[in-house]
Amino acid sequence: MPKITSVIGLGYLGVTQAAVLASLGHRVLGIDPDQTKIDSLNAGKVPFFEPELQELLESGIRSGLLTFDTAISESAKEVDVHFICVGTPSKSDGSEVDTSFLHKALEQLAPFLKQNSTIVGRSTVPVGTAATLENYLFSITDTKFDLVWNPEFLSEGTAVRDSLKPERIVIGTNSQKGESALRDIYKKIIDKNVPVFTIDRQTSELVKVASNAFLALKISYINGVAEIAEKTGASTAKLADAMGLDTRIGRKFLNNGLGFGGGCLPKDLAGFASVAKATGAKHFGELLDSVNSINSDRRQHVHSLAVELLGNVAGKKITVLGAAFKPNTDDIRLSPGLLLAEELRREGAFVTIHDPIALPKVSEMYPKLIQGETIESAAADADLLIVATEWSDYKELDATKLRAIVKRPALIDARNILPSVEWRRLGWNIKQLGEGS
Ligand code: UGA
Repeated sequence: MPKITSVIGLGYLGVTQAAVLASLGHRVLGIDPDQTKIDSLNAGKVPFFEPELQELLESGIRSGLLTFDTAISESAKEVDVHFICVGTPSKSDGSEVDTSFLHKALEQLAPFLKQNSTIVGRSTVPVGTAATLENYLFSITDTKFDLVWNPEFLSEGTAVRDSLKPERIVIGTNSQKGESALRDIYKKIIDKNVPVFTIDRQTSELVKVASNAFLALKISYINGVAEIAEKTGASTAKLADAMGLDTRIGRKFLNNGLGFGGGCLPKDLAGFASVAKATGAKHFGELLDSVNSINSDRRQHVHSLAVELLGNVAGKKITVLGAAFKPNTDDIRLSPGLLLAEELRREGAFVTIHDPIALPKVSEMYPKLIQGETIESAAADADLLIVATEWSDYKELDATKLRAIVKRPALIDARNILPSVEWRRLGWNIKQLGEGS
């Protein structure tokens, strides 16, 4: 049966959640304090790039099921299920997670809470957060509610698909009522044979961070192997293919390169390491710290390769292809390519950055980087090209055409997407990470 819902916090997760709930037939009130964002959403425009989301938003608005506002108000009194999707960024020291936006959301919601409604936390949080939030809400309202945790596992670039056909739905609760509220909401998805895993809240909180930290570990593992492969003449890509055929290991997340970035893996890894240490899992905390260090080493390694190719980077023109932290998104948070570009710029290189869609975001955060609107204009007269993100446009780079416009035919393929033998034949000095030859 269709429900009345709210989604509080409209970032990548919240907007997707709101549009998906409307597509399932529920009424959705989306809340976020950012007026510009709300204006954009009410005008039917997704304020960031996410494949398939624009169409879903437009149809939600057309159907009248989806509306957006800057604050929780009287209309929230009709809501049966509230989804909390606010950000949980790292604190300024980078290790612990800041859960203050969750407290703030509940504080604002409390006066408008409907009797026996369900609150569903979707944000990624340290273990124990749901219990703390529940106690907090008990202290500020007499209204009866259930607080359920329902971690999200969607990846940017495939968020809509991941939401409509997830590999699993995790429901963290020991309340039968809370569980059935969520099962009702997701019925159309669950009916597509999606496994539902109902567990206690602590476990549900941990599933999410443990999964993200494991993905980070897998990437750093292959990047560590890549260091050895490079020194010994081996090929990491071929090795990963062979390893990945073992179904216990699997090929996914074994692509070596410039390492992981974005708003999730680095933050969750650091938060989990801090929980590990706080709970006395000392060596595990150290393992997670090493995952992070191996990841930072990747940037350092590409930096060293640039120095090896150019002598000194100061005064050289370096073109970085790819600002987004991965393809099919315009998210540039902790993008390894951008961090590297900024380091090179600080050392005196003239760095031009190109990206198929993320350049407007680059202007806001990295105003000193030169932007190239096209690949050709970005690469003109370059002493060095660095492929930092594996956008499909870059897989099709034309070695002959580019050779005619650069100053020196030198390229670091930091995502291993180009046919290096062919490029070398066409006169390029090309380096690929983790490839010994
Ligand atoms: C990640 C998780 O994959 C999702 O399951 C999770 O729900 C999400 O975080 C979240 O917490 O919200 P996302 O940050 O969108 O999703 O991106 P990923 O696809 O995990 O990629 C993260 C980084 O790892 C990217 O920089 C990517 O380039 C890098 N990566 C990925 C590699 O370097 N090698 C690989 O083999 C795979």
